[in-house]
Amino acid sequence: MKVEEWKHLFSPGKIGSLYVKNRIMMAPLGSRLTTENGAVTDDMIEFYSQRARGGAGIICIEAMGIDYPLAVGNANHVRFHDNCYMPGHAKLAERIHECGAKAFALLWHAGINKGAFMGETPVAPSAILNPNTGIVPRALTTEEIHELVDKFGQAAHRAMLCGYDGVSVHASHGYLISSFVSAATNQRTDEYGGSFENRIRFAMEVLEAIKKNTRKDYPVMFRINGCDFIENGITEEEAADFARALEAGGVDAIDVSAGVYGTIDKMIEPIQYPEGWKLYLAENIKKAVHVPVIGVGVIHTPEVAEKALRDGMVDFVALGRELLCEPQWPNKVKAGDLHYPKCIGCNSCFERIGKSLPLRCAINPLAGRESHAPAPVCQPERVAVVGAGPGGVTAAVTAKRRGHMVELFEETAQIGGQLLLAAAPPRKDKIYDYISYLKEELKDSGVTVHTNRKFTAEDAKNFDHVIIAAGADSRHMAVKGAESFTQTAWEALAEPADSFRGRNVIVVGGGSVGCETALYMKEGGAASVAVVELREKIAMDMDNISRMKLIHEIEEAGIGQYPSASLKYAENGTGVLEGCGGQAEQQLPCDLVVIAVGSLPRRALAEELYQAGIPAVSVGDAAAIGKIGEAVRSGFDAAASL
Ligand SMILES: Cc1cc2nc3c(=O)[nH]c(=O)nc-3n(C[C@H](O)[C@H](O)[C@H](O)COP(=O)(O)O)c2cc1C
Repeated sequence: MKVEEWKHLFSPGKIGSLYVKNRIMMAPLGSRLTTENGAVTDDMIEFYSQRARGGAGIICIEAMGIDYPLAVGNANHVRFHDNCYMPGHAKLAERIHECGAKAFALLWHAGINKGAFMGETPVAPSAILNPNTGIVPRALTTEEIHELVDKFGQAAHRAMLCGYDGVSVHASHGYLISSFVSAATNQRTDEYGGSFENRIRFAMEVLEAIKKNTRKDYPVMFRINGCDFIENGITEEEAADFARALEAGGVDAIDVSAGVYGTIDKMIEPIQYPEGWKLYLAENIKKAVHVPVIGVGVIHTPEVAEKALRDGMVDFVALGRELLCEPQWPNKVKAGDLHYPKCIGCNSCFERIGKSLPLRCAINPLAGRESHAPAPVCQPERVAVVGAGPGGVTAAVTAKRRGHMVELFEETAQIGGQLLLAAAPPRKDKIYDYISYLKEELKDSGVTVHTNRKFTAEDAKNFDHVIIAAGADSRHMAVKGAESFTQTAWEALAEPADSFRGRNVIVVGGGSVGCETALYMKEGGAASVAVVELREKIAMDMDNISRMKLIHEIEEAGIGQYPSASLKYAENGTGVLEGCGGQAEQQLPCDLVVIAVGSLPRRALAEELYQAGIPAVSVGDAAAIGKIGEAVRSGFDAAASL
């Protein structure tokens, strides 16, 4: 594909007085690459400058607290409430410029989404219980609202002094400003609540204060929700009215996101969401205003981005996780190079930052630690990698690109390892794209691949290094009476979904694998599927966004959920459960038992080599059971260390 085909994507754009080289913005991604006091670090500078070097026209920095401690949710959220943070931000803005992009600072007050950080009660327009945190926030006084308006103005002034090309104001996602706009969270009876005009007053005053505190033509963008997707929340009509008011108030661009924490799957979409699904919300705003509108959400391919621009739905596209995965996306696309990884929506990035851990990406092992790219080797050595799952392929490609002589050994006929099973459940086909990418990587890097080939201690003697990425075995469990009609979830996922048509299935183990397998079989036509889990809830091994979506799908599919229960026995077409939250035994139809009780590292080869005195390093599940990101990073690290 040629660059001419993306002519809208790579045409220059303009936000207020600011000329932008193309129509690509990096969406804000909280990175937790800060110090423990929320200051900019070298890692953070490298993280953003890589994306700037990758060709994005604008880099929008993650949410920056305009007050402390009430505006930020955690110690290592970016702080911007004091001049002492300016040197770091000035360096950051400067570096982004050196790498060819424009930089926007995202001014933020967390409001009700703060949790109880520092023991302080979160603040909000009204003292209404936040179901997501379980905390009743404190309603701001009028005086406090005025102080916060001033603080937004001061932060914008600071941003301008630091060299940021503009500011974006965080008025979405249920954070403070949008919680004023939404009738669901604003029940004030003063001039900041009640009518729509009153509910947007805080936002409008913030805009005014920013304009007062910055030079006349300093670009100001607002990030708003195109829809909250909750009862009484911001609707599409209100979002359009809000955008019109902001335009009248002098805003230079509007970035349209969606969802609040109760509908977070609309904000940071899990794997099931199709590309560009919420661009219609940006289009709705575009119809209401004349200033540039930015659309965001699950954009992976230039086709989707270009079409949205060409069809006039948006003026800019913002890419978040795709640039995490592939910082060089704009440059590659422009050059017609479509060999890049696509984000699989696993949300392990968001899961990590939710735990205050530095940002990482499951697919891109260097994300968040860009300066750690391993150097080429002076002395090539012979490296064997055993196992062609994501960890093994990453290890092999990394070692090969560093200059080693690498051979990859895979026992089966296929590349992908457990990814082949992970891709099978409904709406998870982005994983197939990832498998294709890994295959291209192997080809492109020139790794010698042996499939259908078992690696032994004898083979190891021909290599200087052995990396074992042999994966895991599914853990089995016997259910009394069901010996003749039991299989593991992995076995079930390897069969066509419609082979379960008409079956009555009980899945033992309600982790992510059990739940996804249940969905696979039910959507394949199983007559009934029940998930039985010892813990109090199902799918507890998942990040909360992916879990929210999967549980919704399980409910929609009519799959029975039996937490705090176990399958005692199964016979004569019936399964008998015990536990069930203290209830008496329950009987369910059952002619197939599927076991999904986890997996065990495959350690046979490591043990064999150890006994033979041959050093080897195990990565991924072969070392410790984990998710894709752990396999990829440990494979990468093993290859980087050679
Ligand atoms: C790890 C992570 C951190 C995020 N941090 C922020 C943030 O600080 N402020 C914000 O407005 N949105 C934040 N978002 C939302 C993104 O800006 C973006 O709207 C969302 O991820 C959907 O776009 P994408 O599919 O291109 O990633 C974050 C998303 C992720 C995955």
